[in-house]
Amino acid sequence: PPKTALKDFIHISDFDKETIMKILHRASEVKAQLKSGDRSFQPFKGKSLAMIFAKPSMRTRVSFETGFFLLGGHAIYLGPDDIQMGKREETRDVARVLSGYNDIIMARVFAHQDILDLAKYAPVPVVNGLTDYNHPVQIMADALTMIEHIGKLEGTKVVYVGDGNNIVHSWLLLASVVPFHFVCACPKGFEPDEKTIQKARSTGISKIEISYDPKEAVKGADVIYSDVWASMGQKEEASYRKQRFQGFQVDEALMELAGPKAYFMHCLPAERGVEVTDGVIEAPNSIVFPQAENRMHAQNAIMLHLFGL
Ligand code: CP
Ligand code: NVA
Repeated sequence: PPKTALKDFIHISDFDKETIMKILHRASEVKAQLKSGDRSFQPFKGKSLAMIFAKPSMRTRVSFETGFFLLGGHAIYLGPDDIQMGKREETRDVARVLSGYNDIIMARVFAHQDILDLAKYAPVPVVNGLTDYNHPVQIMADALTMIEHIGKLEGTKVVYVGDGNNIVHSWLLLASVVPFHFVCACPKGFEPDEKTIQKARSTGISKIEISYDPKEAVKGADVIYSDVWASMGQKEEASYRKQRFQGFQVDEALMELAGPKAYFMHCLPAERGVEVTDGVIEAPNSIVFPQAENRMHAQNAIMLHLFGL
C-alpha cells in the first residue's frame, strides 16, 4: 500500500513529502479559521480521543485535548498512574480495549516499541506523542512555525545544538522526506542514533551533518534549535550531562555567530541558564511561543488526515 495509507502517525518518514506538506497546509487553514474565532468547523463531532501519558506533559496534553475539543470532539486524559500500560495491563490489551471506546489514540511512552505495539494492536489510528526515540508531532509544529516565519522549510539551514535525542531523530526523519540542511552540533558520545543518520543520508534528500563545534556549525543558520540536555527518563544524569555539555549552551554570543536572520527555537520545557540563556529565549528573534502554540494546529491537521477528513 502507498505510505499515505498508513493509519498511524508514528514517524514523519512514514509519509511522503506531498502528504507532509499537505498536512502543514491544512494546519495553516484550520489555524486561521480558529484564530478568527469561527468555531463552526466541527469535524471531530461525536468522536473521542484517548490520551495515554507514561511521562509528564504540558504542551502535548493541553494542545491535543483543547485541539480535539475545538474541532467538536472529546478527549480523555490517562495519566501515568491510571492505566499503567505494560505494568497493570499489557500494551496489546490496552490497544484493543481503548479502540472499543475511542476513535483515535495518542500516546506518550518511554520505549518506542510500546507505540509500535499500540499501533499494531489498535484498529484505530495511533498518534505518537513522544517516545524515547522520537517526537514527530513536535517537529511537524516546528515545520509549520518555520513556514510562517521564514516562508519556507525547503532549502533552510536548521542547526540543533545539544543532545542527539528524540527531537533530533524526528528532525532527521523529516530531512529524509523534505530537503533542507540539518546540522546536529553535540558533544562526542551524544550523537543521534547512527541508523537514523544513515537512513536520512541514504535518501539523498537533505544535507545532514554531525558537528562537534557549535560555533562553526551555526554560521548562516535560519534556525538555531535547542532542547534539554537531560530528557525525561534521564533526569538522574542531569549533573553529569551539565559537565559533558559545556560549550553547547545557546547564548547571545552563539546567536550572534549564527547571523542576523537566525531564529531561536526550542520544543520546551526549557531550563534557562542551562542549555539556553534567559536572554536568548526572551529575544525578539525567539519564536518558542508561536512554536508551542502551533502544536495544536499541526496535530489537528494530522488527526484530520488520519481520519480522512
Ligand atoms: N514539547 C513538549 O512536548 O512539551 P510537553 O512535554 O510539555 O508536552
Ligand atoms: N527531549 C525532551 C523533549 C521534551 C518535549 C524529552 O524527551 O524529555
